[in-house]
Amino acid sequence: MSEIRLSSEKRLRLFSGRGFPELSDAVAAELGIPLTPTSAYDFANGEVFVRFEESVRGCDAFVIQSHTTPVNKQIMEQLIMVDALKRASAKRITVVAPFYGYARQDKKHRGREPITARLMADLYKTAGADRLMVVDLHTSQIQGFFDGPVDHLFALPMLANYVGSKVDRTRLTIVSPDSGRVRVAERWSELLGGCPIAFIHKTRDPRVPNESVTGKVVGEVDGQTCVVIDDMIDTAGTITKAVDALFAAGAKEVIVAATHAVFSGPAVERLKASKVTEVVVTDSLPIDEDSRFDGLTVLSIAPLLARAIREVFEDGSVTSLFDGHS
Ligand code: R5P
Repeated sequence: MSEIRLSSEKRLRLFSGRGFPELSDAVAAELGIPLTPTSAYDFANGEVFVRFEESVRGCDAFVIQSHTTPVNKQIMEQLIMVDALKRASAKRITVVAPFYGYARQDKKHRGREPITARLMADLYKTAGADRLMVVDLHTSQIQGFFDGPVDHLFALPMLANYVGSKVDRTRLTIVSPDSGRVRVAERWSELLGGCPIAFIHKTRDPRVPNESVTGKVVGEVDGQTCVVIDDMIDTAGTITKAVDALFAAGAKEVIVAATHAVFSGPAVERLKASKVTEVVVTDSLPIDEDSRFDGLTVLSIAPLLARAIREVFEDGSVTSLFDGHS
């Protein structure tokens, strides 16, 4: 026999960490494939063990993990999964981290500080990841930290469509909660017909974590429906101070739209106590029943992730998912 048949058939496999299995299930359902059976458990001292129950040789692997609390454990588990896949001869490994932990540590504010967002990228690369898939990074530049392709997906169009369907666009102002997110506010404005934008002049003491001092509203918000946009709500300090400032400046109603509902510590109590009209987030992170409240709307990013995974697997186009333009 003078020839051998080479099979070019690719196999897509989905793997889920234990951070938020319901999101992985939803992505698998969208794709119409099961998650690869995986055993994972913790040793008595907290060390994590993972083993896949089926052969993964030659597959195109997508490893979904939400970097939810306890964030370090979820990240470590995902790294261990990547390592196991590499050692079991997966052909390509994509880390799917809808919320990329440590994204806020993307630069040194003062001397002797780490750049942990970069360290994260290096850890994934070292473990064996070929590419990263993330949603609404804290700052886009983080893409450059990873030595390989990064699929930076945007939940913004989904959030903007939802908000746009509920408000009077002639009385709408998009509000950035700080000067750093004005570009994103402009993108929201484009999607919602060119409404005006405003921003809150926020200052922060880098020595005090999770504490911001909200300054004044820059822009016209009197009588307007304001939509405050942010990448994440962590302790909700930033957002609730922005809501207060906007009402004090005459806003008629204030809607908050953020991709990642971290909801740490006092977040839910602060949001419940604030005069915010509605809080719209995605399910990039789990939100337990106790953290749900009237006026909270959760949109699923599972269809977005599934579409991106399919496009990456089929070498299709994901540009529309990257920049929010269709
Ligand atoms: C800050 O630059 C981020 O974009 C968020 O505004 C901030 O991390 C939210 O944190 P918190 O809810 O604790 O104020």
